[in-house]
Amino acid sequence: MVIDDLNAIAEKERAARKKIVIRCCMAAGCMSSNSEGVKKNLEQAVKDAGLSDEVEVRGVGCMKLCCEGPLVGVDPEGALYEKITPEDVVDLVNTIKGGKTKLKRGDLNHPFFKKQLSIVLANSGQIDPNALRPTSPPTAIRHCTMSFAK
Ligand code: FES
Repeated sequence: MVIDDLNAIAEKERAARKKIVIRCCMAAGCMSSNSEGVKKNLEQAVKDAGLSDEVEVRGVGCMKLCCEGPLVGVDPEGALYEKITPEDVVDLVNTIKGGKTKLKRGDLNHPFFKKQLSIVLANSGQIDPNALRPTSPPTAIRHCTMSFAK
């Protein structure tokens, strides 16, 4: 197999992708809150809404905010919904068609997510990892240092 073959496979895979991906966390924390039921109902709701050709429901790994799970993300919109139950999914899928929802939406501008994004960018070489180093020790370390200094 040569690089042209690999590129052809990659292009075929990209062409087969659906426009919208609903990411449902299937890691331990969200699974313990029935994300499996959420994913199953999402798949059915997408089918019932006639969106199977353009929407993929994908089980994904931990999205890092386990305490707010089950988490469901919708791309490319970039929406993140928190504490989703199997009963919520019809409402969630309707948002893809422009419907309104009162489901709890995560704030992707929260410092938690900005830090996570920075780590991803640093790990992928897109930013300098040194930019993530704190300029002063975290409070707990500062406190310990001060205690020893006495
Ligand atoms: S287990 Fe779902 S966000 Fe971590």
